[in-house]
Amino acid sequence: MKRIRELLQSDPTDQPLIVEGWIRTKRDSKHFCFFEINDGSSLKSLQVIIDKTSEEINQTIQRISTGASVSFSGILAESPGKNQRVEMKADKVELIGEAPPESYPLQKKRHSFEFLRDIAHLRPRTNTLGAVTRVRSALSHGVHSFFQERGFLYIHTPIITASDCEGAGEMFQVTTLPLGDVPKQKKGDVDYTQDFFGKPAGLTVSGQLEGEIYALAMKHIYTFGPTFRAENSNTSRHLAEFWMIEPEMAFCTLDGNMALAEEFLKYLFRYVLEHCGDDMEFFNQWIHKGLIDSLQGVVESTFTHLTYTDAVRELKGANREFDYPVSWGVDLQSEHEKYLTEEVCKGPVIVTDYPREIKAFYMKLNDDEKTVRAMDVLVPRLGEIIGGSEREDRYDLLLRRLKDQGLNPDDYWWYLDLRRYGSVPHSGFGLGFERAIQYITGMQNIRDVIPFPRTVRNAEF
Ligand code: 4AD
Ligand code: MG
Repeated sequence: MKRIRELLQSDPTDQPLIVEGWIRTKRDSKHFCFFEINDGSSLKSLQVIIDKTSEEINQTIQRISTGASVSFSGILAESPGKNQRVEMKADKVELIGEAPPESYPLQKKRHSFEFLRDIAHLRPRTNTLGAVTRVRSALSHGVHSFFQERGFLYIHTPIITASDCEGAGEMFQVTTLPLGDVPKQKKGDVDYTQDFFGKPAGLTVSGQLEGEIYALAMKHIYTFGPTFRAENSNTSRHLAEFWMIEPEMAFCTLDGNMALAEEFLKYLFRYVLEHCGDDMEFFNQWIHKGLIDSLQGVVESTFTHLTYTDAVRELKGANREFDYPVSWGVDLQSEHEKYLTEEVCKGPVIVTDYPREIKAFYMKLNDDEKTVRAMDVLVPRLGEIIGGSEREDRYDLLLRRLKDQGLNPDDYWWYLDLRRYGSVPHSGFGLGFERAIQYITGMQNIRDVIPFPRTVRNAEF
């Protein structure tokens, strides 16, 4: 059976066809009834017109309303309407599942995204969430195409792990210990030897550390999977569960890393513009005016490079009051990131060489001993979309950084080992998949670009 997307592109035909989907709208008149039916394959719905030739058809039509699941049989005729080439002239209709209008929450009007979040089980039936869903799926494919075309191997890094990659203490703990009666050691500490893994474990915040293991054997790898952060930030760009893409390259310094990040983002933007034309037109018209031009502009642009030190200088010289004052050493807030990319660089910018104190232990120390070979890619409207670095590949320095940050080197013995055996300059980055979708679709809130957002105090569905 053909999907609606295909039917809409077909020529009229007398061959009998069946179409099934959910009713978006119904328009009743004396002798005919018009329906718009959608099956998720495209933004556009198929118009179906049915003659009220029998009492049976009439009775079925009475019970069909917005949201009902229906199957029509008929032929594909040329449409007199100017919005579509073809429409279905149906001679049979089967109501499969009713959607009583008194209670069906999705009526033919614009609902707020906040409201739709509360009905996440029905929201994929709306135009916007349907379009997001198709873009998200296409973009996943684009991610794999990009790396597979370039010989990167896809590595499945673990979801449960005992090492905190970012060292930021944002790991969700995974335990089978009874919370009400936790076994204790003599000193009163939790006795993790009795826990499932025999030591503290959690949900991964990043696949990077394990990714590095594979990069130091397979040269070029990438991961693409869920990551988790018990970050207490209730913002429009943070989730507790999000998907991340993390390439890692051996024999590669920060320059190669920046080049890959730029090539990757441009590839993804181009990919979606090519593969999701209708959906992108929709976002361009209804969600963010000028979206397509701005993406096209990025594809044709060259990303600006700026050191953190220069970025701070720009921010201090800015003619503007920031909520968070800037001085050398502070982490950049979203307001600073947006200023840099929107006002200073007027396009994507890669900020490098951040102070070591505000970045993770694994980043390579620069000769100045103050900064590390970090890179954040910032884009207009959003701020940080990618975070990455060249990795510390020198054993002694890595050991020192671990200790400096109060981490226990024993927990990272295998990570240190990689610096003892065949160590090599290597680099990688992480692209937040939802941030990428937000940027591409222009959607304001990250909760609306993932099917089931997990945020502070929210794990419904
Ligand atoms: O900058 P982050 O924390 O970098 C890492 O995790 C590195 N281990 C990546 C690497 O070098 N392999 O996170 C990377 C990206 C961010 O730039 C952002 O796009 C996204 O992940 N991200 C989040 N997205 C949604 N919700 C959150 N809470 C996020 N935290 C980070
Ligand atoms: Mg970051």
